[in-house]
Amino acid sequence: MGAFIVLEGIDGSGKSTACARVADELRSRGLDVILTAEPTHDGIGAFIRSGNAGKVSQRAESLLFTADRYEHTSEIRRQVSEGRVVVCDRYYPSTVAYQSAKLDGDSADLGWLKGLCEPFTDEPDAVILLDMDPEESMGRVEGRGLEESKFENIAFLRQVRSAYLDLAREFGYSVVDASRSADEVFRDVMTIIQEVV
Ligand code: ADP
Ligand code: TYD
Repeated sequence: MGAFIVLEGIDGSGKSTACARVADELRSRGLDVILTAEPTHDGIGAFIRSGNAGKVSQRAESLLFTADRYEHTSEIRRQVSEGRVVVCDRYYPSTVAYQSAKLDGDSADLGWLKGLCEPFTDEPDAVILLDMDPEESMGRVEGRGLEESKFENIAFLRQVRSAYLDLAREFGYSVVDASRSADEVFRDVMTIIQEVV
């Protein structure tokens, strides 16, 4: 039976690391696993990643991420219906948490964001929030050597973290303390995933 699993968290919280380990572990148990991420690397996702949209408002940004998700969701749905386990690094909670936070004084309204995302998303079987302090997570990312995204600053990420925690309370996401070792985080994430695969 297929399943749709989403990992969420601020930049540097260890999502990519945990997703890769989860995919390896599930494959070693004989499951057919698709590892994917948003923004995607195709079409609209690639356009977002290119930075060619320039400096746009948080509302316009939300529309771009949502358009990317709409295309991505039909592919996720197909994979799950064919019995695969889809592990997705970010999904609609990213849009609600990141685009509701203030960036240069601009943010999208929380109610508007939830209403926007709802018709264009499928309900994941599990949403796992890797929660940690942005100061620590940015310390990790600084060592990564990639160009810093406009969403990666501590004050901004504090708001994102708080929005994520509110969403977790409201919608019952699992919250994992991501400040611990990669092994400990992975163990907790697998415990949650075992309930849905
Ligand atoms: P994200 O995908 O959430 O941005 P990554 O998985 O890319 O985060 O991790 C960011 C950096 O932190 C990487 O260099 C990764 O190797 C490292 N890292 C991931 N998980 C941990 C952990 N639990 N403890 C310490 N470092 C970690
Ligand atoms: P990220 O997961 O960091 O991609 P990568 O690890 O491949 O660089 O995502 C890029 C940025 O996009 C990240 O700072 C979070 C942001 N983002 C949003 O602001 N809203 C969204 O809906 C999504 C999916 C991502």
